[in-house]
Amino acid sequence: MPIGQQDDVYQIAVLPGDGIGPEVMRESIRVLQEAASVFGLQLSFAHYAIGGSALDHFNAPFPPDTHDACMQADAVLLGAIGGPKWDHEKGDRRCESALLALRKSLRTFANLRPVVVPESLANSSPLRRERVAGADILIVRELTGGIYFGEPRFATEEEGANMMRYTRREVERIARVAFHAARQRSGRVTSVDKANVLQVSQFWREVVSEVHAQEFPEVDLRHLYVDNAAMQLVLNPGQFDVIVTANLFGDILSDLAATLPGSLGLLPSASLGGRVGLFEPVHGSAPDLAGQGLANPLGAILSGAMLLDELGHGDAAAAIRNGATASLDAGVKTGDLGGTATTQEVGALVAESVSATNVRTPMKIAV
Ligand code: NAD
Ligand code: IPM
Ligand code: MN
Repeated sequence: MPIGQQDDVYQIAVLPGDGIGPEVMRESIRVLQEAASVFGLQLSFAHYAIGGSALDHFNAPFPPDTHDACMQADAVLLGAIGGPKWDHEKGDRRCESALLALRKSLRTFANLRPVVVPESLANSSPLRRERVAGADILIVRELTGGIYFGEPRFATEEEGANMMRYTRREVERIARVAFHAARQRSGRVTSVDKANVLQVSQFWREVVSEVHAQEFPEVDLRHLYVDNAAMQLVLNPGQFDVIVTANLFGDILSDLAATLPGSLGLLPSASLGGRVGLFEPVHGSAPDLAGQGLANPLGAILSGAMLLDELGHGDAAAAIRNGATASLDAGVKTGDLGGTATTQEVGALVAESVSATNVRTPMKIAV
C-alpha cells in the first residue's frame, strides 16, 4: 500500500433530502469520489431519507434508521429539506424539525459558514466590485440553542411564542470556537447581538467578553448590534473576519452574506462540536429550480471539502476548493451566477480538475 493511503474506510451518511438536494448531492459525491481516488482515501457512501421524501415514504421526516445511521457514521452530508408540498405540516411532522433534531442529536453546536469572494466572482455580486473583492468572512453560528430550541414554544389560535434563551456554557463554547478560528485567520472577532434591547443578548455580550478577557486577550473583539451588522456587511464587508452570533441571527446574516459572492448556491457549511460532523450547503431546497439541472452545486461540493478537512485530509479538501475556483475561472457557471451551465456540467468540471491534481507519487514500500 502506498505511503499515505488510509486503511480506514470512512462511512459517510448521505441525506439528499428534497428539491435540489438530491441533484447537488450527486455532484458533491462525484467530486468526493474523485478526490478519494486521487488521494488514496476510502469513502463509503450510504443514503438515508430525511425531510419531505422521508415523510412520504416512512411517514416521518426524521426516521429512526436515518437517526441511527447518522449517529454511527464518520460524517453526515446533507442536501436540503422542505418544500411547498409539505409546508402545511405542523410540529415534528415539519421537514425543518428533522434538521433541527439531527443537529441536536449530533450535538453540532458550532455552524461554520465561510463566505469568500474570489476574483472571478466579484462581478457576480449585486454590490460594487471594489467593495466585495477579496472579502473573506467566517460566520460562526450557534446551532443547537437560542430561539430555535428555547421553551416555551407554541402557537394557538390566540398567540404564538418562542423563547431566546442561552446558558453560560452554550455561549462560552461557541465564543471559544470563534476565538480559536480567529487565531488561525486575521485575529478579529465581531460578536453580533441585540444587546440594546434583549436581556439574552446582554448576557451573551458579557459572557463573550469574559471568555475574551480570560482566554483570548490577543484577539481583537468588538460587538455590533445585529441591525447595524447587517448594514455593515453590505456596506463594507472587508471589515469582518470572524462573526460569532446566535442561531437566528446567524441564519439571517449568512443568507445576506451570500450576496457578496453573488449567490446562495455557493455557500458551504460545517456543523461541528459533537463526535460526528454535519456538512451541508447553506441554501434550501430551492423549489423554483428543483428537477431542472439548474442548481449551483458548488455549496454542496465545498461542503464536501469541509468534510474532508474535518476528517484530517486538508490536501484533498484543497484540491476540491481549487477545482471549484477553476470552474468559476473557466466561466462554467450556473444561472444564478449569470451562466448557462447545468448542475452536472459544473460538477463534472470540478471533478475533472480534482483528477488532474498533481499529487506527489508516494514511494512504494513492501509491507
Ligand atoms: P432556498 O435557499 O431554497 O432558496 C432561496 C433562493 O435561492 C431561491 O431563489 C433559490 O432559487 C436560490 N437558490 C438556493 N439554492 C440555490 C442553488 N444551489 N443554486 C442556485 N440558486 C439557489 O430558500 P427558501 O426558498 O426560503 O426555502 C425553500 C425550502 O427550503 C423551505 O422549505 C425551507 O424551509 C427549506 N430550507 C432548507 C434548508 C436546509 O435544508 N438546510 C435551508 C434553507 C431553507
Ligand atoms: C439553514 C436553514 C435551516 C435553519 C432551516 C431549514 C431549519 O435555514 O440551515 O440555514 O434555519 O437553520
Ligand atoms: Mn437558513
